[in-house]
Amino acid sequence: MYFRSSSVEIKSPREIEAMREVGRLAADTLTRVGRFIRPGITTEQINEFVHQDTLKKGARPAPLNYRGAGGDRPFPKSVCTSVNEVVCHGIPGPYVLKEGDIINVDITHIYKGFHGDTSATFYVGRNHAPEAIRVTEVARRCLQIGIEQVRPGARLGDIGAAIQAFAESQGCSVVRDFVGHGIGRKFHDEPKVSHVGERGKGLRLRPGMTFTIEPMINSGSWEVEILDDDWTAVTADGSLSAQFEHTVLVTETGVEVLTRRSEPLENSEIFEDYFAVAQ
Ligand code: MF3
Ligand code: CO
Ligand code: CO
Repeated sequence: MYFRSSSVEIKSPREIEAMREVGRLAADTLTRVGRFIRPGITTEQINEFVHQDTLKKGARPAPLNYRGAGGDRPFPKSVCTSVNEVVCHGIPGPYVLKEGDIINVDITHIYKGFHGDTSATFYVGRNHAPEAIRVTEVARRCLQIGIEQVRPGARLGDIGAAIQAFAESQGCSVVRDFVGHGIGRKFHDEPKVSHVGERGKGLRLRPGMTFTIEPMINSGSWEVEILDDDWTAVTADGSLSAQFEHTVLVTETGVEVLTRRSEPLENSEIFEDYFAVAQ
């Protein structure tokens, strides 16, 4: 007997249309978050903003009460807010954003049973250390490079290899402990999408697959630690970390970014072509 590769879902045209809808909604909420970011607000205010904006759209915030990496402790808020050395899964709370911080806001909506997952790193104010700008712009470019690998017949390893090569060429490191994921009716599904890897290795991509690419890039080493809240992941060496995430669809000819935004992201897309000139 001959078995076709994997347990990775191929979405039907109707399912793809639903993924497009929820992707657009999540992208819109992230765009609105960009206008809201400023020194002096708390991460809890970001949570409140995302929660309300999600409900306004008729969607639900997938993080709220989600049981995943946290074991027995469900995630207590509607969005992840990860500041400076926080790699991912930061829990909104009383922390007041200050000039010079970087913050990743990670949004996942559920709409008509399907998930859309997208995140970006934002600059708080306009006075940032070169290291903060560097890790953020490297992470932004890593997501773009990862997406550029996606087409039918490509391998998952092509994505990780391309991201890893670029990040390391810029003196940054790629987090190993968290990966992108298949997404659809389930928040976190197969396949696991590593952001490091070897070209030509791993699952062969086919039209109709939907998954996230969400590289977490550290300015120091890639090791992470989990805080006592069972969720917050921080860099082990205290270095800065940045992340960008999109939900993508493998099409017959290439890739469709389901969480693409229709306008520039305020407080994030502020450096025009950072890599055009030598840093
Ligand atoms: N949105 C995250 C991801 O990209 C997962 C967050 S799980 C939560 O996969 F429970 F922390 F929200
Ligand atoms: Co994700
Ligand atoms: Co996410």
